[in-house]
Amino acid sequence: MKFVFLLTCCLFFRAAISLSNSQQYEAIFNFGDSLSDTGNFLLSGALAFPVIAKLPYGETFFRHATGRCSDGRLVVDFIAEAFGLPHLPPYLALSKGQNFKHGANFAVAGATALDPDFFYQQQVGHTLWTNDSLSVQLGWFKKLKPSLCKTKQECNDYFKKSLFVLGEIGGNDYNYAYFVGGTRKQLKASVPLVVEAIIRAASALIEEGAVELLVPGNLPIGCSAVYLTLFQSPNKASYDQRNGCLKAYNGFSKYHNEQLKRGLETLRVKYPHARIIYADYYGAAMRFYHAPHQHGFYSGTLTACCGGGGPYNFNNSARCGHTGSVACKNPSSFANWDGIHLTEAAYAHIAKGLIYGPSTSPPLLITNISIGPSN
Ligand SMILES: *[C@@H]1O[C@H](CO)[C@@H](O)[C@H](O)[C@H]1NC(C)=O
Ligand SMILES: *[C@@H]1O[C@H](CO)[C@@H](O)[C@H](O)[C@H]1NC(C)=O
Ligand SMILES: *[C@@H]1O[C@H](CO)[C@@H](O)[C@H](O)[C@H]1NC(C)=O
Repeated sequence: MKFVFLLTCCLFFRAAISLSNSQQYEAIFNFGDSLSDTGNFLLSGALAFPVIAKLPYGETFFRHATGRCSDGRLVVDFIAEAFGLPHLPPYLALSKGQNFKHGANFAVAGATALDPDFFYQQQVGHTLWTNDSLSVQLGWFKKLKPSLCKTKQECNDYFKKSLFVLGEIGGNDYNYAYFVGGTRKQLKASVPLVVEAIIRAASALIEEGAVELLVPGNLPIGCSAVYLTLFQSPNKASYDQRNGCLKAYNGFSKYHNEQLKRGLETLRVKYPHARIIYADYYGAAMRFYHAPHQHGFYSGTLTACCGGGGPYNFNNSARCGHTGSVACKNPSSFANWDGIHLTEAAYAHIAKGLIYGPSTSPPLLITNISIGPSN
């Protein structure tokens, strides 16, 4: 009896949070890569990855390709919806007369936290999909700013009511290097540089007037079909027995995330007036990798929905959208979309974890609910 009551109470409780939530953002500004690009890469030419311009990309929600690297909505789309805002228009749609009053998306698929120079120095510059790195995206924001607000006061008021989402970014800095044979040891050395680039961008945004920042960490790359395929191991001990992911690569994501969290800690000291929120993509995703069925992933979480064969349905010679690949009938029963990116269903779970907890710290949603008998 008591248990049933508790359950009903808490279901209601959650509904009440979203309804009575008086915290409102007027705009969202997003920076990042393919995990949050809503069309910039496509608008920029998309030579490296033209298949995102057609179905099955976009098939689930939009029913046409939008430039999102998924079958449907991304985490940032769900965040916008939760705060009653429109899906973020890509910044490069500017020339099409787009209105950015409710925010803009500067993310570009393939973008890196570090500038292209770094990759050219490492002799891997030619593998970059795009040169629109984080600092280019910041430049776009600064260029757009005068059209959003005029005086310093006006800008401060407007940005105080805006959410700045900075990431996920940095994943590609590692992907490019790993995919051309970089070792984890070599890559670990670049983590402080990547984190520093993210922290520098966060500082720049705060200096521009940002007060509310959401900074996501990296996903567990050892659970990603592309990593599982490229770094297959005959050694059972390489895999996490619980979820089948590559332990060492997940360890690498954790390493990046720990450094990022430490960087954010120093930022909080430097800018005590800002609310700097860490978004734990790793933990949010781990919940469905650990318990696929509880999250509706009846086809598993490691195998891609759309691909051209192989143990994880990721085939570099027949990637999703290319000849030889097929998309599954039921993307929502898969967590992985095309081997690299996740499905709308997976992004929805991550977004829920960020908005309603427990994957943000401090919590994204500020509620005035006090737990106890006085309530
Ligand atoms: C929380 O309560 C305070 C005091 O009653 C109020 O000023 C504030 O606007 C509330 N915040 C939210 C997010 O509802
Ligand atoms: C990035 O810039 C370099 C140097 O200007 C250029 O050669 C390269 O084609 C650019 N890459 C992309 C993907 O646009
Ligand atoms: C990968 O794709 C190529 C090209 O379509 C195909 O020849 C090959 O059999 C595929 N590999 C697997 C493991 O399915």
